Amino acid sequence: MRVFAHRGASGNYPENTLSAIRAALQADVDGIELDVQSCADDYAIVHDTWLDRTTNGTGKVNQTSLQEIQTLDAGNGEFIPNLQQVFDEIGHKSMINLELKHTFSLDKFVACIEQNIRQDTFAREQLIVSSFDHHQLVWLKQHMPWIKIGALTASIPLHYAEFAQRLHAYSIHIDKNFINHQFVDDAKQRGLKVFTYTVDKQQDIEDMRALGVDGIFSNFPCYAKMILSRS
Ligand code: G3P
Ligand code: MG
Repeated sequence: MRVFAHRGASGNYPENTLSAIRAALQADVDGIELDVQSCADDYAIVHDTWLDRTTNGTGKVNQTSLQEIQTLDAGNGEFIPNLQQVFDEIGHKSMINLELKHTFSLDKFVACIEQNIRQDTFAREQLIVSSFDHHQLVWLKQHMPWIKIGALTASIPLHYAEFAQRLHAYSIHIDKNFINHQFVDDAKQRGLKVFTYTVDKQQDIEDMRALGVDGIFSNFPCYAKMILSRS
């Protein structure tokens, strides 16, 4: 079972920052999940929706300028990174799951990814783009047919994993509190990988393994890997 660091190793470091990414890489994670969105002047920023909970700023990232975002402290003196800084930090070292946090124009996002792949900052195979906004995922797949799509859902849809198959997704990312055997079996029959979030406690980690999911997102990836290393 793969372990993705949720917002980096965010249980011990400020979430969605370079220190959280470095700690995750040190833990030798399979992948790193990060939240991405555009700020008010349309630059791709790696952060959750609101600034209040995580920084000394206030308001929403998508209503704040890049200049202002660059002045904020994201915890322990860390800055809020942009997409390029994250790509440079991770390089070829692990899978990268970018979760789109709100609806925005994806042209620049696509251009940034393609440029980094041309420059071999990372390889295509490493990247998964996920979102609760499935319309954004359809648009992305049309413009980058090679992209691995992660279809996010908080709950079990009426027709199980069918929605993700229709999106030509690579994986489904589902809340651990809703997942069950029927859902996992249905997704697997459709050739989809199943990842669950956010899985931190020993019992939850073991339950996910027993369900046969392909991966988990954890705030404590080092701990999760330790639990999974036990037979
Ligand atoms: O991508 C998995 C998970 O991060 C989705 O929700 O709110 O934790 O970003 P959230
Ligand atoms: Mg996320």
